[in-house]
Amino acid sequence: MDAKTLKKKYIDFFKSKGHIEIPSASLVPENDPTVLFTTAGMHPLVPYLIGQKHPLGKRLVNVQRCIRTADIDEVGDTYHHTFFEMLGNWSLGGYFKKEAIELIFEFHTKILGISPKRYAVTVFSGNKTSPKDIESENTWLSLGVPKERIAFLEDNWWWPPGSTGPCGPDTEMFYWKPNDIPGPKKFDPSDARWVEIGNNVLMQYIKTDKGQLLEAKQKNIDFGGGVERTVTVLSGLEDDYLSDTFLPIIKKIENLSNKKYIGNEKAMRIIADHIKASVFIIGDGVVPSNNERGYVLRRLIRRAIRFGVELGLKQFTKSIGTAVFKIYSDSNYDFLQKNKHHILTELEKEENKFTQTLQQGIKEFNKIVDKWKDINGEDAFLLYQSYGFPIEMTIELAKEKNIKVDLNGFNEEYKKHQELSRTLSAGQFKSGLQDNSDITKRLHTATHLLNEALRRVVSKDIKQKGSNITPERLRFDFNHHNALTQDEIKAVEDEVNKIIQQKLTVKKEDLPLKEALKSGCQAEFSIKYPDKVTVYSIGSYSKEICMGPHVDNTSQLGCFKIIKEESSASGIRRIKAVLE
Ligand code: SER
Repeated sequence: MDAKTLKKKYIDFFKSKGHIEIPSASLVPENDPTVLFTTAGMHPLVPYLIGQKHPLGKRLVNVQRCIRTADIDEVGDTYHHTFFEMLGNWSLGGYFKKEAIELIFEFHTKILGISPKRYAVTVFSGNKTSPKDIESENTWLSLGVPKERIAFLEDNWWWPPGSTGPCGPDTEMFYWKPNDIPGPKKFDPSDARWVEIGNNVLMQYIKTDKGQLLEAKQKNIDFGGGVERTVTVLSGLEDDYLSDTFLPIIKKIENLSNKKYIGNEKAMRIIADHIKASVFIIGDGVVPSNNERGYVLRRLIRRAIRFGVELGLKQFTKSIGTAVFKIYSDSNYDFLQKNKHHILTELEKEENKFTQTLQQGIKEFNKIVDKWKDINGEDAFLLYQSYGFPIEMTIELAKEKNIKVDLNGFNEEYKKHQELSRTLSAGQFKSGLQDNSDITKRLHTATHLLNEALRRVVSKDIKQKGSNITPERLRFDFNHHNALTQDEIKAVEDEVNKIIQQKLTVKKEDLPLKEALKSGCQAEFSIKYPDKVTVYSIGSYSKEICMGPHVDNTSQLGCFKIIKEESSASGIRRIKAVLE
């Protein structure tokens, strides 16, 4: 059975039982600041689960797009995903346990045709605060599920996704996956061959902000079932990535990489899962960044890129992203199709950004490991700050080499840096530099050469108006009224590369400000310098007041290339350049 058929059968069945279909909500929760993403179909319904009247009544059904990030590192096996679709039906203060269990049993056995031989369930065993769920047990027994196929677990409990809200015991349904062996008489929920295909949460309680459980005035049913895994087992497959919810993406990866899925499962699954999730997250309005949702998105894209590089893929996120749109082409996903261009462009932008630093970051990582074995907080932070490695990526790389990362040390560095950035943005410590890694040091020295080359090649009136350096590129603003011509750009590049090849020494000295200015040092006049300043000279070519740090010799720079020349403000031009 394919996913479209499953979804249609589910919606049609529950509609025939008086439920109204509601649309899938956004992945970005509208009214819940305590969670980053919509993790289940019940999430957008919380106000109605705690008593508000739903305009469409007490029986609802839908297919909800969800993101769960807790298991990102587990993705790579046959059934963990960050993005998935969830079949959901709700009773908002209407029917309760008995009818809910009867409905889902009918759907599973009559509509989907699952044989009782492959069916088993779990029920809440009770604990110190709440009693055993005898009503659910009796309902399952009355439907013909044998005693041996009912397991009692203390874990059968659903807590709200945020810190407060509706919750209660749940009862889960399992499917015996192997085609060649009949389902054992006695159900063992720890045997992974039993796959969970549904969960009925029996919402009897409300968790308060003090952590207490209060008996809910309105008792609800919240059913959720994963589309991907249900499709897989119903199709007799062992692996979710071979069902129609993933296969087109896997095929695309095979084509692009010229490698087979068999033998490369882990990398291909991670790429397929993470790119699919990223397409949906961008589709719901998030862009990669270093904060919250944007950071999760960045982590997903960058992890996919790392595994892509292992498969020899280059510039691939856009093509693989395209395959996602083919899977989700029904009318529920109009918003995705409408945003296609934007989504693919964001993927490509993030890939371009990260590809430039990934290889160098891996080199740096290996260097650190060769030297120290384990990774301390400062190094982990360097990888994060200068090479764009999400900390989780550093930890994953370290795990593959059986070494440790000092996470506390990283967190301390991160905090220190945040304090420093606050100081920087308060204007107390001006510098165009963000960190001291090799790559930014090289770009910084190149910036001095560019500054001088512009004066020598284009106009002696040019002065620096601003500078900003990231590990990917330098950015230099200067006063000039016209756009540089192609010839001028080429001449500036040639000039800088000529000096690089002269292997000039970079010298650092501390001088009284007056003396430095008298000697013809370049300085930014908008900056208030202290009485004593540091001056960096590159041979006799350039001399600037600057806090550094710089490389020792221009021979360390490589080849200088201008990638963009544009207007930055009236009378101010901006150059972006890289070292290759
Ligand atoms: N909220 C429950 C779950 O996510 C049932 O929908 O499993």
